Amino acid sequence: MGYQSVFVDEGILEIHHIPDAILHRDAEMKRLGALFDHMVTAPQEMSQKAVIIGNVGSGKTVLAHSYGRALRARAERRRVNLHYIHINCRERRGSLFMILSQVVTRIKPDFPERGYSANELLDILRQILNEVDTQVLLCLDEVDALIDNEGSDALYYLTRFHETTPDEPRRLNLLCISKDAGAFRKLDRSTLSSLQRNVIRLPDYDRLQLTDILMQRAEQAFRKDAVTLDVIDFISDIASKERGDARYAISLLHGGGMEANNEGARQLKPEHIRKIAVGLFDITVPDEIRYLSKHEKLSLLGIARFFMSNTASEATTGEIEESYHLVCEEYGEKKRGHTQFWKYLKKLNDLDFVAMEMHSSSQGRTQLIRLDKIPAKTLEKNVVDLL
Ligand SMILES: Nc1ncnc2c1ncn2[C@@H]1O[C@H](COP(=O)(O)OP(=O)(O)O)[C@@H](O)[C@H]1O
Ligand SMILES: [Mg+2]
Repeated sequence: MGYQSVFVDEGILEIHHIPDAILHRDAEMKRLGALFDHMVTAPQEMSQKAVIIGNVGSGKTVLAHSYGRALRARAERRRVNLHYIHINCRERRGSLFMILSQVVTRIKPDFPERGYSANELLDILRQILNEVDTQVLLCLDEVDALIDNEGSDALYYLTRFHETTPDEPRRLNLLCISKDAGAFRKLDRSTLSSLQRNVIRLPDYDRLQLTDILMQRAEQAFRKDAVTLDVIDFISDIASKERGDARYAISLLHGGGMEANNEGARQLKPEHIRKIAVGLFDITVPDEIRYLSKHEKLSLLGIARFFMSNTASEATTGEIEESYHLVCEEYGEKKRGHTQFWKYLKKLNDLDFVAMEMHSSSQGRTQLIRLDKIPAKTLEKNVVDLL
């Protein structure tokens, strides 16, 4: 049988891919609309400023891009001149000069690159906007880099772009993005207050929201059946503990797919994800493993063995106990009773070797056990070496 990749379109999983639909950000998208739709409905009459704040992977960049794309499309339909320009300030080393050069060449690609100062470029931008008769929604992503590098000045000038010419058309609108509000503390009072009026805060994604985002990507990126719902849930669980970082979640999905390909597997398994999670975090088996009692080690081995031979991401206590019994037989040890075994599990959970969660259903309550960040194989090798 020939090699078949789990991917059908790996590009969907790249960091810069902008999905057709942004999930769970309807309210935030509406607010952007309320702030900047005037650029299409009443062109050049107002100039608005806003800030998006949210943790890493909360979708700030993709939200802005996606709004910008929709705004451009509407402008085109109505034959309104409009540019959406998205600049990552960190990539421009936080330099106002480099940022403005990029803005100017986006509007006028043949603009000669000569030694202007940042202030001259600001005037040139004003001229060019008039000349081309257009308006810009300028998105300054990772704006904290600009504030760190230029202090208050850069945003001072940008937020007052129209103040010296109050009768002229309003051509520049600003959307700043930062992962925390702290960066803005360095701004002077009036610049701060002009930005503070419109703050859009993106809450962290929860487990179910991450599941939806992952499903959307998986459907387009992977061969049908290559990714099970179980694996998606597994990734959402891990990533929701990393403050709901969608970027991390997608990178686990992507890495897991590459791992599956390396092994020639046709499906992603929790073990593939674990390997990637370990790689990204560089977590090793906790040192406490050496101080576990014999039967605690045997229990741990039972857990490792279970997840090596099963593709399920979770196990019931009963399944793990069975696996522990097999291990005891293998090592010629008398197996301990259920109550004692339960205590071993509790301890392994306390030491973070495994994650235990209580699940309630109509059948009652079951304790489920997961191995999140330690690959089963790594764990097995470590325990066997010590036994
Ligand atoms: N609501 C969402 N719907 C679909 N994909 C999302 C959503 N939020 C984030 N993503 C994806 O998660 C990744 C991280 O998002 P990003 O916008 O780069 O986060 P931030 O800029 O806040 O760090 C990107 O690949 C992005 O496309
Ligand atoms: Mg970003």
